[in-house]
Formats: sequence, C-alpha cells, structure tokens
Amino acid sequence: MNQLFEDRSFIENPQYESIIEDILKKQYSVIEDFFTAEDVSVLRQSLIEKHEEDAFKKAAIGNHLNEIIIKSIRGDVILWIDELKANEAEKIFFNKINNLVSYLNKTCFLGILHKEFHYALYPKGTYYKRHIDTFQNDDRRKLSIVCYLNEDGWLPENGGELVLYLDENEKETEKVIYPFPGRVVIFESQIIEHEVKPVNTERMSITGWLKTR
Ligand code: OGA
Ligand code: MN
Repeated sequence: MNQLFEDRSFIENPQYESIIEDILKKQYSVIEDFFTAEDVSVLRQSLIEKHEEDAFKKAAIGNHLNEIIIKSIRGDVILWIDELKANEAEKIFFNKINNLVSYLNKTCFLGILHKEFHYALYPKGTYYKRHIDTFQNDDRRKLSIVCYLNEDGWLPENGGELVLYLDENEKETEKVIYPFPGRVVIFESQIIEHEVKPVNTERMSITGWLKTR
C-alpha cells in the first residue's frame, strides 16, 4: 500500500450518499432531519422577524425579462438571502448547504458553481400551481432544494403538501410530501414538475437552487 497516494481528505458521508443514490435513481430525494429542531427554530425565527420588517415581496413568475405577478399561479411571498450578509441562523443554513454542495462536487461532477436561496411564506389560502423550476430562457438551475421551517405537529389538514409529478414507466404518478419541519426535498429542476397545494395554515420554508453557471 502506497501511503503517499492515499487520499485522506475524503470521508464518505452515508447521508449524502443516499441523497445521491436517490437522485440518480428517481430524480428526487426526501431527507428527514437534515436540519435539527434547533436549526429549524432559529431559521423560522429569522424568517418571521424579516417578514415582520416587511422585507418580503410578492413572488414573481419568471425572471427579470418577464417579471409579472400572477397571484392565480403562486401566492407565496419571498425574500432572497444574501450569504455575504448572513445572520447567525443563515450561517448555520449555508454551512450545511455548502457541505452538501462540496460533497456533490467531489463525488458527482455536477459542477455546481452558484446557488440562490430565498425564504418563502405561504399565507393561508395560497398555493403554487403545477410548474417546473427552470425558465424558458435560462437552464442554469440543476437541483431544487426545499427546506421546511414549520412548527412541530404539522397536520395533513393544514394542506400545503408538495406534489411531485413523476414519470414511472411512462405513467404519471404523484409523490405527496408534507412540509414537516427539518425535512428537505431535493429534485432535478429541469425534469420534475411539481406543485404546492393550497395551505390552510401559514407555511414557511427556504427554497433554492444549485446552478452550474
Ligand atoms: C418553488 C416550489 C415547493 C415547496 O418555490 O418553486 O416549488 O414545497 N416550492 O415549497
Ligand atoms: Mn418549484
């Protein structure tokens, strides 16, 4: 065994490995407790504070070329997060995300160079109709990541489930995912159509994308 050539910098991470395996096999992964209860609590507090400062704006459809607010398509309000100005909660958030990204880049040759994340709050009665996360004139988004920040005890009757529309042997199937706190969903931005069903209780999350350029 040549000790000189042994790479000691890489340690296999079972959680990340199972995310990669899921995405390769079915284009999405649902991870429980990606964020601890404490992480979720400080991130939720940060979202609530910024929302109370009125920093959120109505989410727009499309990018700046065709930025129009269409409430009939999506009713959430969002606030983009600037990593360079991250508060303590957001530092915890980016620390975990950056660890995942560097692992993906080491093992998957995905070439993720950029990322963008925003807080999202769905007021009671709002939803996001079936859509895909890539814009017609922009295919840089590779992976979508949704991190749920709701209080413990989210009930099915609260609504707000994420539905992924999957193609299984050319037959469309629906994967229903409840926005339980600490849960993270990752899926291929260019492939998976999805929607957020109407919420009956305020629904909180951080959503973002890993991009190649
Ligand atoms: C989005 C989106 C899903 C969710 O913001 O594009 O699809 O579960 N969010 O919040
Ligand atoms: Mn989406």
